[in-house]
Amino acid sequence: MEAETVHRKGFLGRSAMVNKPNETMRIIVTVFVGIIFGFFIGKSFPALPLLKLNITSTLIHDFSVAGNKSTGGSTQSIDASSSSNNNRSNSTENQNVNDSSKIWVPSNPKGAERLPPGIVASESDFYLRRLWGEPSEDLISKPKYLVTFTVGYDQRNNIDAAVKKFSENFTIVLFHYDGRASEWDEFEWSYRAIHVSAKKQTKWWYAKRFLHPDIVAPYDFIFIWDEDLGVEHFDAEEFIKLVRKHGLEISQPGLEPSRGLTWQMTKRRDHHEVHKQTEEKPGWCSDPRLPPCSAFIEIMAPVFSREAWRCVWHMIQNDLVHGWGLDFALQKCVEPAHEKIGVVDAQWIVHQSVPSLGNQGQADHGKAPWQGVRERCRREWKMFQTRMADAEKSYYKAMGIDPPKFTFHH
Ligand SMILES: *[C@@H]1O[C@H](CO)[C@@H](O)[C@H](O)[C@H]1NC(C)=O
Ligand SMILES: *[C@@H]1O[C@H](CO)[C@@H](O)[C@H](O)[C@H]1NC(C)=O
Ligand SMILES: *[C@@H]1O[C@H](CO)[C@@H](O)[C@H](O)[C@H]1NC(C)=O
Ligand SMILES: *[C@@H]1O[C@H](CO)[C@@H](O)[C@H](O)[C@H]1NC(C)=O
Ligand SMILES: *[C@@H]1O[C@H](CO)[C@@H](O)[C@H](O)[C@H]1NC(C)=O
Ligand SMILES: *[C@@H]1O[C@H](CO)[C@@H](O)[C@H](O)[C@H]1NC(C)=O
Repeated sequence: MEAETVHRKGFLGRSAMVNKPNETMRIIVTVFVGIIFGFFIGKSFPALPLLKLNITSTLIHDFSVAGNKSTGGSTQSIDASSSSNNNRSNSTENQNVNDSSKIWVPSNPKGAERLPPGIVASESDFYLRRLWGEPSEDLISKPKYLVTFTVGYDQRNNIDAAVKKFSENFTIVLFHYDGRASEWDEFEWSYRAIHVSAKKQTKWWYAKRFLHPDIVAPYDFIFIWDEDLGVEHFDAEEFIKLVRKHGLEISQPGLEPSRGLTWQMTKRRDHHEVHKQTEEKPGWCSDPRLPPCSAFIEIMAPVFSREAWRCVWHMIQNDLVHGWGLDFALQKCVEPAHEKIGVVDAQWIVHQSVPSLGNQGQADHGKAPWQGVRERCRREWKMFQTRMADAEKSYYKAMGIDPPKFTFHH
């Protein structure tokens, strides 16, 4: 037992060190970005879901050829698609194929070809396990839904109220931006939650790093929520029932129309289960089937299906941490977007607009911290739009076809 303990400490490191046997179900995942990152690099991303277009494999092949020719303007997606279509006949891989004593399985995830398929575990989960006993008997339940909150300890009572609206069918993940992870143990549910602590980061920063689609693969729906939401009139199980009933791949609860509502779309409607379309101020919607009149939700309380999240995750930029502009682009991930993106009116929330993360900024040139954050949000929005437009432009150029008219609202 002594030796085992020593070994475990050495192996798991401080983060998962167990002090008392009855605390073993609690694991605080501290951030080892390097390790996680290394893992992702090693992982395979077969067939990038470029854009929701009707692309046959022939076209993709043409595309990779064309991408090779284009001078300097090749994008990541071009690289990815061409590398997946590489003629490998002269590579070292082929020498392995010829040596029948060595394993080489091209259909394995990229980088794992040397493994027998039976041992390859390409997906994971957030299910907490014991350190003893039969592994097959570790899990009493396997929640089908995931909810994450990006939290500071000061908002604990609000989060406590919110968590109680999510049944035992949910895995709970807290992203701590203030580093105060262990203090949450005053709440009974904290012991079954996953705590990720990295100081002063945003919801989308965490989501990009810890919610990789292969990690959250067991979950039918993924809630990626802010901490300042009033949930008095919300029940997560009921919400999911309505989402399933109306075929929503990307959704959010309706927002109680109080002060400061930015978009008509997310405003809660009385006597409705869900709505998928709205009217905006004159001139705001060039097409009623596009944002912000349709195919649109905001980023404060989004809910994604597994499939939609796989696409959205790929669209999140590593450096654009505030996620501004994502809301307008979500429609690129589902089709038809105006039918599969919607707002659930019957389960609704209140946006309390507590300035929290904004206060995590830095005073700069005499400006308040929140001003610097706000400015960066706006700047990121423009950068995201530009990147998306450029990426689409080079795609269509490489395909040799005229791009459709894009309608981004400012
Ligand atoms: C995709 O293209 C194929 C053939 O090019 C066509 O038969 C099919 O209807 C298209 N699908 C859509 C959704 O446009
Ligand atoms: C791709 O580009 C390389 C040089 O950059 C060239 O040698 C090669 O022939 C090109 N391949 C195709 C398929 O265009
Ligand atoms: C791959 O390239 C080799 C020559 O390098 C050629 O003989 C072979 O036919 C090519 N295979 C494919 C599938 O293009
Ligand atoms: C295959 O690779 C070898 C050494 O890297 C090279 O000498 C040879 O020309 C290549 N053959 C083809 C067909 O590309
Ligand atoms: C496989 O090995 C055999 C004999 O060892 C050789 O004749 C053949 O050319 C090899 N094939 C390839 C694709 O390297
Ligand atoms: C949890 O999921 C199970 C199976 O889908 C369902 O029967 C049960 O009612 C759910 N729990 C709650 C609290 O809704």
